[in-house]
Amino acid sequence: MNIVICNDYQHMSAIAAQVFINCLQANTQAVLGLATGSTPVGVYQQLIESYKAGEISFAEVTSFNLDEYIGLHRDHPQSYYYFMHQELLNHINIEGQRVFIPSGIEENYGAYCQWYEDQISQAGGIDLQILGIGSDGHIAFNEPGTALGSRTHITELDHQTIDDNARFFEAKADVPRRAITMGVATIMEAREIILLATGENKARAIRDALEGPVSSQCTASALQQHSNVTFYLDSAAASLLQQK
Ligand code: GLP
Repeated sequence: MNIVICNDYQHMSAIAAQVFINCLQANTQAVLGLATGSTPVGVYQQLIESYKAGEISFAEVTSFNLDEYIGLHRDHPQSYYYFMHQELLNHINIEGQRVFIPSGIEENYGAYCQWYEDQISQAGGIDLQILGIGSDGHIAFNEPGTALGSRTHITELDHQTIDDNARFFEAKADVPRRAITMGVATIMEAREIILLATGENKARAIRDALEGPVSSQCTASALQQHSNVTFYLDSAAASLLQQK
């Protein structure tokens, strides 16, 4: 595992964006794994700038998002579909039919989750996956207790996650209680993974992910067993690490 301690959020976003830029310049048909949350927004801004400067193109790129709230329509401002379009997809030349974001309003999730897995396989798997981390150590919406062998599935959100994400909604009661998420094993199949975290409130999750046992109680700890993963952190998120 590689760990890069960055000066600040801007620095972290710039160097993580460069990983994407290098990937897209090496492979114009790259398959990208994209994440929501506030953490990757700076990376997305850098990618938009790089696209506008003519350094990269998304014309042949395919993207897969990690997760979505159950019950939110695409046009709900807090849906991850809406978020991704606002923050990145509306500003680049990616083809709509190559954008995959799990749907929050399916009727048959058993079939739908398998379909989503099949789309990833048919695209040839994910080349580069970006991740944030929840304050309880979750990746995507793989909450504590989720099997490390899990694939795309429906999950109940933890109280901690509902509290953390309430800031985006008018009231805590509006935060959906369930989500569809790629599983830990789905994420682990990406050929390269980068995880970004800043701030003191992520320090415990980062310590557990990097220096704790590999455990379903902190699903980010599964990344210890990935052969090509880099954590980009600021000093606050890295503050509880013993082996800096
Ligand atoms: C949600 C998302 C995760 C994300 C996490 C952290 O739970 N499902 O993918 O990593 O939020 O979000 P933030 O970056 O805003 O701290």
